[in-house]
Amino acid sequence: MSADQKNRAAWIKQAQAHPFVVDEAPMPDPGEDLITIRVHATAINPADSAIQRAGIIVEKYPAILGCDAAGIVTAVGSQVTGFEVGDKVAGFCDHTDLLCGRGTFQRFSNLRPALTAKIPDTISFEDASVLPAAMSTAAYGIFERSEGLALPFPEAEMEIEGEGKGVEEGKVLLVWGGSSSVGSCAIQAARAAGFRVAATAGKGNLEYVRGLGAEWVVDYRSEGVVEEVVGMLRGCGFAGAFNSVMFEDTYGKCAEIAHQLGGKQMVASIVPGMMPWKRDLPHGVRFGNSKRILPDAFEISAEHFPDVSYEIRDSEVGPAIFKKWLPAALANESLKCKPDPVVVGTGLEYCQEACDRVAAGASAQKFVVVVP
Ligand SMILES: NC(=O)c1ccc[n+]([C@@H]2O[C@H](COP(=O)([O-])OP(=O)(O)OC[C@H]3O[C@@H](n4cnc5c(N)ncnc54)[C@H](OP(=O)(O)O)[C@@H]3O)[C@@H](O)[C@H]2O)c1
Repeated sequence: MSADQKNRAAWIKQAQAHPFVVDEAPMPDPGEDLITIRVHATAINPADSAIQRAGIIVEKYPAILGCDAAGIVTAVGSQVTGFEVGDKVAGFCDHTDLLCGRGTFQRFSNLRPALTAKIPDTISFEDASVLPAAMSTAAYGIFERSEGLALPFPEAEMEIEGEGKGVEEGKVLLVWGGSSSVGSCAIQAARAAGFRVAATAGKGNLEYVRGLGAEWVVDYRSEGVVEEVVGMLRGCGFAGAFNSVMFEDTYGKCAEIAHQLGGKQMVASIVPGMMPWKRDLPHGVRFGNSKRILPDAFEISAEHFPDVSYEIRDSEVGPAIFKKWLPAALANESLKCKPDPVVVGTGLEYCQEACDRVAAGASAQKFVVVVP
């Protein structure tokens, strides 16, 4: 086997070990229901650094972390349809794989076909790698039928009415944290589903979220943010709120806005099982995914760690997003790979620095490692 065909990985040798150690790794086997890709770029998510620091999720060490990858298909599981060796793809290696220590910080990685999209030649691996985990998470919150906001699925050819033409009943979604990776996907997906979007972001990112399609933008740090959003959207049909970031006060603010606006009084979110703010909900408001709210405040454990991918890969949402909408929307450029990738380095050695930078905080950025 030539050196180019050998696998190498950024290993975490034991729980909470830092830094990762780059070494040889076994070649992944797609088995019946996975695909294997030669990874060309892997994007870093807050979950990666959280798993490393807290020693959660992974059950077996040494392990390989990483959720997002873009590359070329090298092997297809015996039961998999719709993919061929040589396809250019981006996909989500979900927590089922992470439990067993098989993530994307390696040259060859398995991906879940239901959460993998074919990507056009015009899109770089670095750009494509920013989408899968964030899009899966956004899609769960806004499209999942029973526990999410159940918006109609997005379409690549969707045309949205321009500002000022009047707002159709139930057609405005609030995305809290629009400059996050998940929020950036949520804004674009909601627009492509035919919804108008209001978003909060930091002051320096208001134009960024406007560029993604949010018509109303508000600085989430402004003192009267709840009143500001309510004032802007009063009289519009409210389709609910999607909380893209995980802070206790953001759940409360979304709930208060939903309460005051009426319409669909539901707050969907990124992390069903870790929703910390559950008591004293304003009358009539409910959280999406509420069956999973933990009995007590903020708690992170492998048992409770929520993985939206379990839900959407087995429901109609996964194919609607990854098979139908994403490839077409990337091809006609109605979907942008946002936030822009910030390439931390070329080589698996950079996975650790990239994780450390995510832990220090990203702002409308996605840290990416190119895998040579
Ligand atoms: N359940 C899952 O499977 C799953 C998957 C992916 C992500 N997640 C979770 O989803 C969350 C978001 O992930 P991500 O990758 O999108 O994060 P990210 O891009 O790293 O989030 C950073 C962004 O959060 C914004 N932000 C910080 N505090 C905020 C606040 N109080 N209100 C509104 N926005 C705020 C910042 O905005 P400014 O810079 O504009 O100030 C920044 O742009 C994380 O908690 C992550 O663990 C869960």
